[in-house]
Amino acid sequence: MLIDLITAFPGSFSGIFGESMLRRAQEKGLLQLRITDLRDFSRDKHRRVDDAPYGGGAGMVMRAEPFFLAVEALAVAKDDPGTRIILLSPGGKIFNQRKAQELSTLNHLVLLCGHYEGIDERVALYLAQERISIGDYVLTGGEIAAMVIVDAVTRLLPGLLSGPSLEEESFTDGMLEYPQYTRPYNFRGMLVPDVLLSGNHAEIKKWRRRQALEQTKLYRPDLVNGRGNTPLAKENNLGRSEE
Ligand code: ADE
Repeated sequence: MLIDLITAFPGSFSGIFGESMLRRAQEKGLLQLRITDLRDFSRDKHRRVDDAPYGGGAGMVMRAEPFFLAVEALAVAKDDPGTRIILLSPGGKIFNQRKAQELSTLNHLVLLCGHYEGIDERVALYLAQERISIGDYVLTGGEIAAMVIVDAVTRLLPGLLSGPSLEEESFTDGMLEYPQYTRPYNFRGMLVPDVLLSGNHAEIKKWRRRQALEQTKLYRPDLVNGRGNTPLAKENNLGRSEE
């Protein structure tokens, strides 16, 4: 997969992309990250990429032209179904594991990072194919949101992680993950649940499913009551009845 990041702050990405799983994915040839400095596409002699908002108001707005020029220079195959141009914005659709899975099947993502008070709406209307937010809060820019997406998508790329750990993780079946323990059995008087040492795999499986459900009811009741029709919710008669 090729991921293009278009940003006025290219330095934000140094560090995170050179560590751990993201580094491994690039070394294995599963992922190519390409960072484009939006300021290289400013015609302004001070390399500015923002301007005052039409209609007045506080703050600055990022201009449309540098984004269009940057995408054009990258020769993005817009009509290719394997390509997706995404604008990161707090006004977008909320990112989740399902979206990460969908994006992980594509071969070229172009992530447009905004800053300042906003981005000229023509970027969202005529350049981006999708607008994504990583949550209901406002960041200083889209760079951290882009990193979140790169990270969540990369770990799903075939060949990076092995199957079972992906299948059992949080959200994959609409539930949070069950609690995990490792040695020692007794840490400062805090013990590991005995069932995990029993060797009884059927009991362990049952315990884990019960725990996953309990954790989800406690921390994310919206997952159990809202969308509802997850395999675990159905198994426990918590799913919404189908109309
Ligand atoms: N830019 C600023 N806030 C954001 C958010 N919550 N998600 C994506 N991009 C953003």
